[in-house]
Amino acid sequence: TTAWVPCDAAAVALGADHVADVLTASGVTVRRNGSRGMLWLEPLVEVETERGRVGYGNVTASDVPALLDGRLDETERCVGVVDEHEWLVRQHRVSFARVGLIEPTDLAAYREHGGLAGLQRALALAPEEVVAEVTASGLRGRGGAGFPAGIKWETVRTASADVKFVCCNADEGDSGTFADRMLIEGDPFTLIEGMAIAALAVGATEGFVYLRSEYPHAVRTLRRAVDIAYAHGVVGESVLGSGRRFDLDVRVGAGAYICGEETSMLESLEGKRGEVRAKPPIPALEGLFGRPTVVNNVLTLGAVPMVLADGGEAYAALGTGRSRGTQVFQLAGNVARGGIVETAFGVSLGELVDGFGGGTASGRPVKAVQVGGPLGAYLPVTRFDLPMDYEAFVDAGAMVGHGGLVVWDDTMDASLMARFAMEFCAKESCGKCTPCRIGSVRGVEVIDRVRAAGDDGVRRTQLALLDDLCTTMTKGSLCAMGGLTPMPVRSALEHFPGDFGLPAPPAA
Ligand code: NAI
Ligand code: SF4
Repeated sequence: TTAWVPCDAAAVALGADHVADVLTASGVTVRRNGSRGMLWLEPLVEVETERGRVGYGNVTASDVPALLDGRLDETERCVGVVDEHEWLVRQHRVSFARVGLIEPTDLAAYREHGGLAGLQRALALAPEEVVAEVTASGLRGRGGAGFPAGIKWETVRTASADVKFVCCNADEGDSGTFADRMLIEGDPFTLIEGMAIAALAVGATEGFVYLRSEYPHAVRTLRRAVDIAYAHGVVGESVLGSGRRFDLDVRVGAGAYICGEETSMLESLEGKRGEVRAKPPIPALEGLFGRPTVVNNVLTLGAVPMVLADGGEAYAALGTGRSRGTQVFQLAGNVARGGIVETAFGVSLGELVDGFGGGTASGRPVKAVQVGGPLGAYLPVTRFDLPMDYEAFVDAGAMVGHGGLVVWDDTMDASLMARFAMEFCAKESCGKCTPCRIGSVRGVEVIDRVRAAGDDGVRRTQLALLDDLCTTMTKGSLCAMGGLTPMPVRSALEHFPGDFGLPAPPAA
């Protein structure tokens, strides 16, 4: 018998290593895959059968005898052939196509499942043709800002310098986001291949992955994968025999949220304190060590191999409006079925939360969903019609961000969430500019006064002050940390005024 047991950190946290040991001791051949992204089922053990890989959810070490003698087969613990599971069948997996399917550092399996086809094609093209494919794909930055990747690459390609860099931002600090980690733990070669293609496109010879120290499993898997990629010429002195050099290194951060901001990340990579640099100059022109640098998120680079393998137009055929391709959404918080949903842009917020997520884990009604990390807006159920689309979200006073969705039930107090936004900013501010450094501290105080206000007059005076403060932070902050903190605050006030002691808005 062969069984697959995820080595993803989420599964390991729930006892997957122990399950794997017990299976091995029982004579089963155990292989370790990444997670399928159905996190509510972890550890999800898959047993190879003639029908395909049959899954068993929430397996503990003590379940192993029952699993092996078939006693779980007729129970709800058996989820059937995993590839046929409705949660996966309804998705459109591009960047995550191999995650959970193969052993993360098995390069042969990676190739068998379509890996390296994009890099091979890029090697046959001129650099400007590679950039043109990425431009045609409509791929935009998945870190949050949604800047067109092709334009960024073209800026770096046409810049002249003695050396250029490709840096991958894997400092996934947003609450409720874990797709970068799961791609790196489940299919690291996709990222490595994407970076090698980026390097060929812009003429870079050196690359760095900036990975957060909170992800020790990802650090180990990625380092192992980089070693294997070197040994097989995917990176190194002669990328797959072409004679074009690309060196790749993994650097581990030290836990500051602000190092996810690209210029702080570059400072940190240079060995300095992670403090934001003023832009311009943009990193595409003066980035790492002052040289032209591609800075992209893991998911942006993770989409690139497919874009090259299948062509930019195939990727652009997915999506809606100016949001092309797929987004890897992450369902977290109080949600019945949390995990990874990769699907084309345009899917509605409600379809993600109710359709995929199955509503709250507590069984109570959903009150709000915070989309796009701690700096994203809180959206009420009345906005569940909103399509996942960069522009539609901006129009709604929200942002898609890195695609994380955190669900809250009706016990949530939006005024506390607003307070948390300011408190988070106060803790994580790099301190370089006043609106953010001081504004966030004042923000906590003002919200405390709003919450404590006994009479309406005091409340309204303090709310006017809060509004002013939010405007100052939005307009005056040097980076998105201070600039976006007002977004959750304002959305909480707009959609849930009752939590601030104000009358509810008239029904629409
Ligand atoms: P930005 O809008 O300043 O820049 C976006 C990207 O485009 C940057 O890489 C920038 O260097 C590049 N760029 C801008 N103009 C360019 C040009 N003419 N040519 C070439 N490249 C150009 O946004 P920023 O400050 O980098 O990021 C803000 C976003 O980050 C927010 O919208 C938020 O969603 C997201 N964010 C993500 C977090 C995460 O953990 N993933 C955490 C916090 C915020
Ligand atoms: Fe630093 Fe905050 Fe200013 Fe950004 S907004 S530069 S994090 S102080």
